[in-house]
Amino acid sequence: MSEKNIKRVAISTGGGDAPGLNAVIRAVVRSGLKRGWEVYGVRDGFHGLLLPERYPNGGLFRITNEIVRGITHLGGTILGTSNRNNPLKYPIKMPDGSIQEVDRSDEIVRSFALHNIDTLITVGGDGSLAIANVLMQKGMRVIAVPKTIDNDLDKTDVTFGFDTAVAFATEALDRLHSTAASHGRVLVVEVMGRYAGWIALNAGVSGSADVILIPEIPYDINKVVSKIQEREAMDAHFTLVMVAEGAKPIDGSASVIEHQAGRAERLGGMGEKVAHAIEELSGKETRLVVLGHLLRGGSPTAYDRLIALRLGAAAIRALESGHSGVMVALDPPHVKYVPIQEAIGKMKFVPLDCDTVETARDLGIVFGD
Ligand code: F6P
Repeated sequence: MSEKNIKRVAISTGGGDAPGLNAVIRAVVRSGLKRGWEVYGVRDGFHGLLLPERYPNGGLFRITNEIVRGITHLGGTILGTSNRNNPLKYPIKMPDGSIQEVDRSDEIVRSFALHNIDTLITVGGDGSLAIANVLMQKGMRVIAVPKTIDNDLDKTDVTFGFDTAVAFATEALDRLHSTAASHGRVLVVEVMGRYAGWIALNAGVSGSADVILIPEIPYDINKVVSKIQEREAMDAHFTLVMVAEGAKPIDGSASVIEHQAGRAERLGGMGEKVAHAIEELSGKETRLVVLGHLLRGGSPTAYDRLIALRLGAAAIRALESGHSGVMVALDPPHVKYVPIQEAIGKMKFVPLDCDTVETARDLGIVFGD
């Protein structure tokens, strides 16, 4: 397939939203229209294509310059998104009430073909990359744009949304610092970070946390309590504890609140467990703040806007130069093209010897190890 065949490009956003998605959409639309191509939005991930009875036109709608005017700074995605009902493992209820996961990717390819679309730009995390890979193998021209506030996708320097999340979590710590100090309390702050602790680490160091618990470093609660006692002895009667939702104790596992077919398991509750244990073991009055989805909302920082716009424009350039099956990735000062197959299933964990971890330790921050 050559770029000369490109007439209609579809764009979809999948997985959890991230500040910067609208900036990607705007860059894709403006760059695509500039080349004389038509750009179509896909509503709510792939739901529209799989549920034609609910979505007119397969959930596809034509995007004009007017539609993307003034959206760069807006959180969320004008297309809608979904992290349920993965088309490769679509949950179907069987007559006996059990759930069976089926691959519905052929139907997606057929739906796109029905609407004369053979080119897709998919913006998403690891799940979206896996779907993109299958669609490519089934003949579609596909470019992937990486996205996650967790910053845990390998093969790209950073993902948009992460900087916004870190800025917000840092501001939250700043605010909690004064109230914790005023009351002489322990404040536990839980942030997103399912498998990797990037948000907890970067915001924790920037916001002067005393303890940071991340999935990469299983924690011993006694070490956390020792830190609180050490601070007490130094006349610091308050402590800030940053906990990634995926943190795990040395003798336990991550706190899962829900298993569901067709989607990743839902995490939650680790902050509460840590806060409860601290209060019990230290006798210190302890409060918990779960930042959760606040981290995914709001206006993207200038940094996130810029990388989102760059990746969106790069996706169109990749198509123009005949690429397919690649993910546009940040490799400062460049954007490079990485084969999607190489990017799938590759997590970027916090390296235990990275400079930020070393800096944290030099500052006296405890990881519970
Ligand atoms: O976007 C990734 C993520 O933020 C994870 O850290 C978190 O576990 C998950 O999304 C929660 O997603 P939701 O509540 O939308 O299912």
